[in-house]
Order: sequence, then C-alpha cells, then structure tokens
Amino acid sequence: MRPFVELISKKRDGLALTDQEIHQFVMGAVQGTIADYQISAMLMAIFCRGMTEDETVCLTREMTLSGRTVDLSALPGPIADKHSTGGVADTTTLILAPLVAACGVPVFKMSGRGLGFSGGTLDKLESIAGFSTQLSVPEAMALCRKSGIVILGQTEDLTPADAIFYALRDVTATVESIPLIVSSIMSKKIAAGTDVLALDVKCGSGAFMKDLDSAQTLARDMAAIGRRLGKRVSAVITSMAQPLGRFIGNSLEVEEAILALRGEVEGDLMEVTYALGEEILVNAGRVSTFQEARQMLKKAVSTGAALKKMCLLIRQQGGDAGVIDDLSLLPHARYAFSVPAPKSGYVGAMHTDQIGLTSVLLGAGRQKKSDRIDPSAGIRMEVRLGDYVRQGAPLCTVFASTDSACHNAVIPLQQAIVLCDKKPALPPLILDRQ
Ligand code: URA
Repeated sequence: MRPFVELISKKRDGLALTDQEIHQFVMGAVQGTIADYQISAMLMAIFCRGMTEDETVCLTREMTLSGRTVDLSALPGPIADKHSTGGVADTTTLILAPLVAACGVPVFKMSGRGLGFSGGTLDKLESIAGFSTQLSVPEAMALCRKSGIVILGQTEDLTPADAIFYALRDVTATVESIPLIVSSIMSKKIAAGTDVLALDVKCGSGAFMKDLDSAQTLARDMAAIGRRLGKRVSAVITSMAQPLGRFIGNSLEVEEAILALRGEVEGDLMEVTYALGEEILVNAGRVSTFQEARQMLKKAVSTGAALKKMCLLIRQQGGDAGVIDDLSLLPHARYAFSVPAPKSGYVGAMHTDQIGLTSVLLGAGRQKKSDRIDPSAGIRMEVRLGDYVRQGAPLCTVFASTDSACHNAVIPLQQAIVLCDKKPALPPLILDRQ
C-alpha cells in the first residue's frame, strides 16, 4: 500500500485515482488509519480537480460498502424510493410515497434527518402524534410487505464513510463538489436497497444548485452512476425559483400533503409529484408511458386510494390516523402573523433561500444538528410569482410559538418577496428530465 500522501498529491495534480487507491482512501477513513487532515486534503483535491465517471462510480461503490447494505430482495419488487436535493415547501415525499404505493409500487423510504429549510421527511411525519420512524430494518420490511409502504430513519451503520466525509466537507468548504455530492447521495440510496429511484434535482434561488447547467450535471451524473451500479434511476430537474407548495414547516406540510391526497391541492406541488410518480411507475414497469402513469396516479387520488394508503402508513407506524379527517389534531402554533406587502406590485422574484432560512428562524428547521424543531412553526405563502398584490395585502402568514419570532420574520420575508411594476415572465417548473 502506498503512503496516503502520494494519493493526495496524485489527485492534487489532476490525475485519476485507481480503484485500489479509492478503496484505500475509503477504508482508511472508516478504519481511522488516515488522519482527518489528510482526508480533508484529499476532499479538497477532489473538489478542485474533480473525478472521472469511473472514479465516481468506484467512490460511490466503496462508500456504499463501507457499512451495512439493506437487502430487500425478499420483498415483492420492484421497490421504489425518491430523493430530493432539498428545497423549500417541498412536501412531495409525503404525497408521492402513498400515491405510488396506491398504484401498486411498494415504497421503502429511508431518510436522514439532515439540516436545512424546515425539517426533513422524518421531522414532518413526527409532527403527527405518536408517529415513529425509529424502526429496525426487519420491522420496516415486515410493514412494507403488509402495506406496501414504510418510511424510516436511516440506520447509523449505513455508509459510515459518508458521515465522516460529510462532517469534514461541512467545515472545509468542500460540500459543493459534484463527485462528492453524487457519491454521498447515491451511496446512501444504493445501500438502502431499493430498485427504482426517482431523483428530484432542485434548481434556483432556494436550491443547492443555483443554475440549470450545474443542476443538469448533477442530475446526469447521479442517474449515470446509479444505473452503472444496477439501479433504475431517473431524474427530474425542477424549479426552486419560489417555494414549491404553499406551506413551509413540519405540521403545516403534513396538512398540505393530506389536502393534496384528498384532491384539494393543484399547481406546482402536484405537477412535480406527478412527474416523479410517472418516472417511478414507468421505471417499475407498472405502465409503459407517462400518460398511462399520470392517469393511474390521478385515479389513485380521485378514488381516495392514495389517502387510504397515507392513513395506513400513519396507523402502522403508531401515529394518530385521525389527522386524515381532522387536521386540527396536528400541532398548531400559538402565534400567527400576517406579513403585509410594503407596496403594490407584481411578485417579480423570490429569494427562496431567504424564505427557507426565515422558516428555520421561526423554529421549523435546524441550524445545528442538536437543535430541536418546533413542529407547528412555519410559513404559509399567500402569493406566487406573477400575482398582483396591493399594498398591505398579505404576502404570507408566519406561525411560531413566540410573538417576537413572528415579528422578527416580517422584514426578511418582505425583502425576500420582490415586488415590481411589470408582470414577470414565469419560469418553467419542470426544467429537464434525465
Ligand atoms: N446531500 C447529501 O446527502 N450529500 C451531499 O453531499 C449533499 C447533499
């Protein structure tokens, strides 16, 4: 085995690492034989020099094999999963999972808790009284076999290499590297054992990827790496020029998901959900065209089958399924405040990242891993891009457990929702499919 410093200098000089060298890097990190400063130097070299597709495939495979891998072959497949690169008011998982399960494609979704705008899927579901996401893999498999759907927390032993790399990337300015993002996301998804994966790559002011070029590169690379490692992967690139749905926050997003499954929500959130659902149903072989898939998905909503699946999911994981019929059973914030438009005009742009950050300050998300989430906190958007608002009319409503948190959110939100004199051209929602 070569001294690790030689591998760092090789990557620093822009050369490709061999499979054996990548194995040495990942194993050395997990076994503690390479110091954090050397791992960090290698991450920075990868950040600066990039990786070939072969190197990224190898890194992803090695990271996948650095810990436990879940074997779902005992379940009647194909089994589906979905991943979003993270957006604001992105409630799609809570709608999509019961929806495709109701169409006959079982869903086994393992989620990490993560940081960011509002909580993750686990936090949202845990705002339902009693709902547990702490399941063992055998427990989750038994539930999935019975009901066709399960959503659980990622077990600690999955991809330990990613935990080590991500913690170092976070403090060494090396998060925004395509091969490191691809290997991080795809290793977790491959280790989780599902067959079909729909990726929602967000693009725009509220997303990790701010421009279409970088979103396309990320989507193409994730799909290519996933396919080379034996998964049926497709990616949809969707706009994050504004919050996707109307609600940002944990119990608020559960509320929106239930309304959507009742058939009471239209617009961008449903469009993205249907687009991802089409990818899953076609890739799972359930139908052969997007058109047939759309019909099947819409029928699952109109007949109530998808809502019934959501009810089953909540009940089987110990949650109070009464929320399906009675939304008042969800946590509600003590204070609600309307944010008025400072002037009349068209909503010309949104700084979606700032809206997401304000929801975190209201208590809906975490700034540090150890932060507690307030399940009832968040924002209800009252306007979308292109709407005309009069001075004083509400731009959004904020919810928090203190009066001061609501007050503090007003100015950042007024700044984040840009009013202008001319009606803007609206950006497309689905930017690309790979
Ligand atoms: N999400 C992940 O899981 N990993 C990354 O590197 C970036 C986003």
